Amino acid sequence: MLYKSCVRPSKVVMANFVTVLLLIEVFAYGFRFGADGLNMNYYLMSCPFIEPVVKNTVNRALMEDPTLAAGLIRMHFHDCFIQGCDGSVLIDSTKDNTAEKDSPGNLSLRGFEVIDAIKEQLEIQCPGVVSCADILAMAARDAVFFAGGPVYDIPKGRKDGRRSKIEDTINLPFPTFNASELIRSFAQRGFSAQEMVALSGAHTLGVASCGSFKNRLSQVDPTLDTEFGKTLGRTCSSGDNAKQPFDATSNDFDNVYFNALLRRNGVLTSDQTLYTSPRTRNFVNAYAFNQAMFFFDFQQAMVKMGLLDVKDYYNGEVRQNCRKIN
Ligand code: HEM
Ligand SMILES: *[C@@H]1O[C@H](CO)[C@@H](O)[C@H](O)[C@H]1NC(C)=O
Ligand SMILES: *[C@@H]1O[C@H](CO)[C@@H](O)[C@H](O)[C@H]1NC(C)=O
Repeated sequence: MLYKSCVRPSKVVMANFVTVLLLIEVFAYGFRFGADGLNMNYYLMSCPFIEPVVKNTVNRALMEDPTLAAGLIRMHFHDCFIQGCDGSVLIDSTKDNTAEKDSPGNLSLRGFEVIDAIKEQLEIQCPGVVSCADILAMAARDAVFFAGGPVYDIPKGRKDGRRSKIEDTINLPFPTFNASELIRSFAQRGFSAQEMVALSGAHTLGVASCGSFKNRLSQVDPTLDTEFGKTLGRTCSSGDNAKQPFDATSNDFDNVYFNALLRRNGVLTSDQTLYTSPRTRNFVNAYAFNQAMFFFDFQQAMVKMGLLDVKDYYNGEVRQNCRKIN
């Protein structure tokens, strides 16, 4: 009895101590990105059910069409690389303005309806509070998880931009880039070569149009496997819009993409060059043999990408409709 009464309080003390530590942890984590005005709990008071609303809507859409996971992830990438992660990719063109989404790169931008559906629900629950840029960042993250990739938390608090112009999309990396050009393009946004390779691993999902890789078919390409070259040729016999999956498991987030590069089965020039170039080959090898390492690096790089040039109250807004500037 005496023994028990001695043990119990100390257990309670321990439990309290652990709780306090956890709270400190949560707050430290939550405000780590304070400099950007972003944090993990940004909508804790203003829109508490944001996480389940986004997750459920993404899950529902992807159960109906699993290929949309690729669309959402790619859309977040394009958003962040042009004018920062500010929802500019979501804007529709008007009679006075041709928006980003109408550039040739629009071909496979998909999933706009999913963002609209999330926004519609959040406008009912907490009108005027949640930015489209945050919705897109969260939807991309939930799409990664839905497809079998890593689970991770992202800081929120991005504001939506007021500019979306077709000419800005020139700053996206081209599928014809070699490793040096890719490294330079990503370095301009503060990414290392390894982070660039990890992010390219997003091509574990989705498809490319013939128009994006037919440059490889006009002459003999020693970095392209002969049999796989024939496969690409067959895809292209149906025209520039015909789709080629990036890897054999195009709805599953895994490291099969990197293993395909080892067999010279990369689809785009910008995919295969990651293995051809001695500057990036070691990363491809590492991710091909260690999926956990790929998942970890990808998740870190995605959080970093989601912080590119975020807007605040002074240079941004919370759009009412993700397709239109207020
Ligand atoms: C490294 C430079 C990159 C280049 C040159 C590039 C280029 C491309 C191209 C040309 C396509 C096919 C578009 C089409 O033909 O319809 C594509 C698709 C895709 N990209 Fe990238 N990309 C790059 C990096 C990324 C990054 C960083 C992500 C995300 C983190 C990403 C995610 C995707 C996804 C998921 C698809 C498939 C889209 C779908 O199936 O609808 N890409 N990319
Ligand atoms: C894609 O962009 C082209 C211009 O490059 C435009 O003609 C076309 O209408 C756009 N497609 C869609 C679906 O917006
Ligand atoms: C990559 O492309 C650039 C620009 O076209 C070129 O100058 C460079 O030589 C290329 N690098 C390799 C390794 O092919």
